[in-house]
Amino acid sequence: MRCDGLVAVVTGGGSGIGRACTEALLAAGARVGVLDLDPSAAPRDPRVHPVRADVADRAAVTTAVDAVAEAFGGLDIVVNNAGISAVGTIEENDDEQWARVLDVNVTGVARTTAAALRYLRRSSHPAIVNVSSVAAGAGLPRRALYSASKGAVHALTLAMAADLVGEGIRVNCVAPGTVDTPWVARLLAAAPDPQAERRRLAARQPTGRLVTAGEVAAAVVYLASPAAGAVTGTALAVDGGLAGLRMPARD
Ligand code: NAI
Repeated sequence: MRCDGLVAVVTGGGSGIGRACTEALLAAGARVGVLDLDPSAAPRDPRVHPVRADVADRAAVTTAVDAVAEAFGGLDIVVNNAGISAVGTIEENDDEQWARVLDVNVTGVARTTAAALRYLRRSSHPAIVNVSSVAAGAGLPRRALYSASKGAVHALTLAMAADLVGEGIRVNCVAPGTVDTPWVARLLAAAPDPQAERRRLAARQPTGRLVTAGEVAAAVVYLASPAAGAVTGTALAVDGGLAGLRMPARD
């Protein structure tokens, strides 16, 4: 699970899962470029290069990726984590929301990776890890647009893995369940009874608790590290059993 000497870019690395990935990659020996709309919360460390960029802006993403590669002398790992939420059925999200969420959650993955490929091609341990979701494989109510975007991330992971396997570049994704991050805190704050909603989300996980950002980050570091050298085109569930287990209802 070591990433000594490797350089990573983490999109959305300023909060939640992305920030945990940054910390875990640092602990594994990597240096990290944090690409975020607001990178101010990135860890303050000489091995971190924060860059402000919107993954929906191709020119900004390319400039940011180049800046990280320049600062650290190359690039080996891309963690495509930046994503935004959408709540609603197909009748509740308008075309503008569809365009923005797909632009960030799906095209953002393609854009960032495309900007990074010329550096990854020079790496001896190139790897890409995308952050999908349990929503890619399980129908969740009032998550139509979000689920479509994460299903696309899963499909894109497989297609990219097929395109890049011949060049030795591995592409995988993680599929988290409900993770205790500022994102979920915002969702809870908007609920009529945040405490009850939190208990409901925890009870939905067979483990009975939310996933931690650190648990997702550990899976991301594994997939990004040379230890996963034979792993490509996979989706690793980090979901407390949510996707795969059928549990009796709790009392
Ligand atoms: P978060 O909201 O705590 O952090 C997201 C980060 O991405 C923020 O720092 C934000 O500034 C950045 N970001 C958002 N849009 C951006 C853009 N256009 N360009 C650059 N940066 C941008 O969210 P969290 O929970 O850490 O989620 C991270 C990823 O994990 C997302 O892709 C999300 O879909 C996925 N995920 C989250 C789950 C959860 O329960 N929290 C479950 C499954 C997947």
